[in-house]
Amino acid sequence: MKKQSDSNMKDTVLKLMLKNRRHVGDHQYTLPSINAYPYQWLWDSCFHAIILSHFSPIDAQKEILSLISKQFDNGLIPHMIYWEKADVLNIDWGTSGTSSITQPPMIAYAVWQIFQKDGDEEFLKKVYKHLFHFHKYLINERDPHERNLIGVINPDESGEDNSPRFDEPLNLQPIHSIDTNFKRRLKLIEENRECNFDAPFCMKNFFWVKDVPFNVIMVENLKCLARIAERLGHDYDAKYFGEKRQKIIDAMRELMFEDNIFWTTYGDDYKKIKVKTWALFAPLFAKIPTQEEAELLVNTYLLNKEEFWTEYPIPTVSQKEPSFDAEGFWRGPTWFAPNWFIYKGLIQYGFADIASELKEKSLKLLKKSGFREQFNPKTGEGLGAKEFTWGGLIIDMDDE
Ligand code: GLC
Repeated sequence: MKKQSDSNMKDTVLKLMLKNRRHVGDHQYTLPSINAYPYQWLWDSCFHAIILSHFSPIDAQKEILSLISKQFDNGLIPHMIYWEKADVLNIDWGTSGTSSITQPPMIAYAVWQIFQKDGDEEFLKKVYKHLFHFHKYLINERDPHERNLIGVINPDESGEDNSPRFDEPLNLQPIHSIDTNFKRRLKLIEENRECNFDAPFCMKNFFWVKDVPFNVIMVENLKCLARIAERLGHDYDAKYFGEKRQKIIDAMRELMFEDNIFWTTYGDDYKKIKVKTWALFAPLFAKIPTQEEAELLVNTYLLNKEEFWTEYPIPTVSQKEPSFDAEGFWRGPTWFAPNWFIYKGLIQYGFADIASELKEKSLKLLKKSGFREQFNPKTGEGLGAKEFTWGGLIIDMDDE
């Protein structure tokens, strides 16, 4: 019975992935949502590759190849590629054809997962130099004080555009409208344009946040990159990326950790931003907390019905935060990517029962409301974009 419903779900996911697939010249990629998001996005494409690796590793490879094809000379991989013109989200990034900022570096993870499925070393060789330069860019340009935490120059680089983690550095109050938030972020883009998206300069003058999920994702991806380098016989690089990974973990402990929580920090003095969001659980994904710390975290916050264990978890923001808004985009609703990261983290610590409950509850969301972008964490009602691909991550919620 279970097998039957699993395979129905797989069929539904594949249909959606094919419906949202686009070709431009030799490039193949997937739109997160045809109407709302008609371009290619960085971390979305990594999720797409992870999903596609379950059906057709070759299509997963293609998704990654078109993503890295627009890498900048300095190594940055832009978070948006405007392959075809559309009427929405036309923002002036000072560049043509792509944005000028990046997104969480999930590419090495996706590439490693594809390689686990197809063992195609030629693909690893093709993508390696792109991954190498992207990570070198993040290491060299995003950490001007050499404290080993990677900075973002714009909230959108985190993938969580209006998360309350960014209110303080943006000078916004916990309660404000989506429109106010958007205007403030557009102003930041203007400022970023003014400094030519030169990261150290932009961070010094306008916005410099060391975000927890971004650094966690960097840690896990450096692990995958080191494995890829090792596999290709680049032993020096493997050692370098492995050491860098450990330095970020150490810096997270030194500069972010307090009261059993890793907090996002900002500015020159690495001030902690003590807003409780799903980022509390992100470090589980890269196995950064100890077993004891993880247990305390899960019991105190994740399973707490007044904070994160709602009827349809995981809300992106704790219900106890003044900024919590069940329909506020990244200020409360449940999103599939955070659920996937947390699921993977729970498995790593042996919390198999909680992980499988989270998977069941995530599945319930899809059955109730379909493949929506976000969901009200209390009622399960679907919000935002329709036929949104991230729900497809459900098929990668396994305990491999
Ligand atoms: C929204 C999300 C971002 C995502 C993009 C495309 O901007 O906040 O994370 O990459 O949509 O789906």
